[in-house]
Amino acid sequence: MSVQIIQDECIQCQMCVAECPSQCLSLQDGQIAFSAKSCISCGHCFAICPKGAITLNSFTAAQAEALSSSSPLESKIINRRSIRSFKSDPLPHTVLNQLIQLTRFAPSARNTRLTQFVVIGRKTMNQIGEQVAVMIHPKMGAIQKVKDIVFRGAPHVIVAIAPESATEMQKMDGQIAVSELEIALPDEIGSFWCGFLTGAAQKNPDIRKQMNLPEGFTVVASLGVGTKDIQYARPVIRENIPVQWIE
Ligand SMILES: Cc1cc2nc3c(=O)[nH]c(=O)nc-3n(C[C@H](O)[C@H](O)[C@H](O)COP(=O)(O)O)c2cc1C
Ligand code: SF4
Ligand code: SF4
Repeated sequence: MSVQIIQDECIQCQMCVAECPSQCLSLQDGQIAFSAKSCISCGHCFAICPKGAITLNSFTAAQAEALSSSSPLESKIINRRSIRSFKSDPLPHTVLNQLIQLTRFAPSARNTRLTQFVVIGRKTMNQIGEQVAVMIHPKMGAIQKVKDIVFRGAPHVIVAIAPESATEMQKMDGQIAVSELEIALPDEIGSFWCGFLTGAAQKNPDIRKQMNLPEGFTVVASLGVGTKDIQYARPVIRENIPVQWIE
């Protein structure tokens, strides 16, 4: 089982229940119950628990807290989390623009540099949220009306766009640029990859129109951003990745 609750250590604060993106945790008969069915093993419950009362794939909180890093950048990479709790205040355009302009230094297939950016704000997000949610699942539209499952309450989405005629490698430029931008975010700014928007915008020209995309452009990556309204107690710990060394 990916997640186990150490009931003796748990204080039933329910922070894990609120944090789980897949609604796997609940308070039942005075104890936290875990349902594995939709668990994606993201470790957010493990990372948030103030008591270290959750194990993830048998890893303990103490093991995660002991993870060491050899540089501030390595520490940033280890501690990065997809943030889904934001303060509602918008970020200054100057801050967002500075981050976007940093991506000028990202690699680019044949240096063609076809990536452009569109930053959408709350007005557009509110306008298209339900339409995007319905495209994930017809039942999601009703949920989006009461809870922002698409944009997670973020005040902005930074959207990397490329010409529809671009090659897959040229479209990859935008994904690399967003990944670099994410790592460059200052500590107080959180982010999550908004795959729901990317997928919906790629399929639906009406959504692209409402996002004011230039004619003939498509979305290649989307990153919800805003000031974090959450703090994790520890990083997530994950199994080593298999590597083959071929001579
Ligand atoms: C391409 C991509 C698309 C994603 N789309 C979404 C999304 O639409 N909504 C969301 O809340 N998280 C999204 N995520 C975040 C993943 O769920 C998250 O990275 C994963 O659960 C691991 O958690 P972590 O990022 O905190 O390590 C996406 C991540 C990637 C890389
Ligand atoms: S976050 Fe930890 S202490 Fe709080 S309810 Fe969940 S398992 Fe228990
Ligand atoms: S690992 Fe992620 S999906 Fe699974 S219970 Fe914890 S927070 Fe929920």
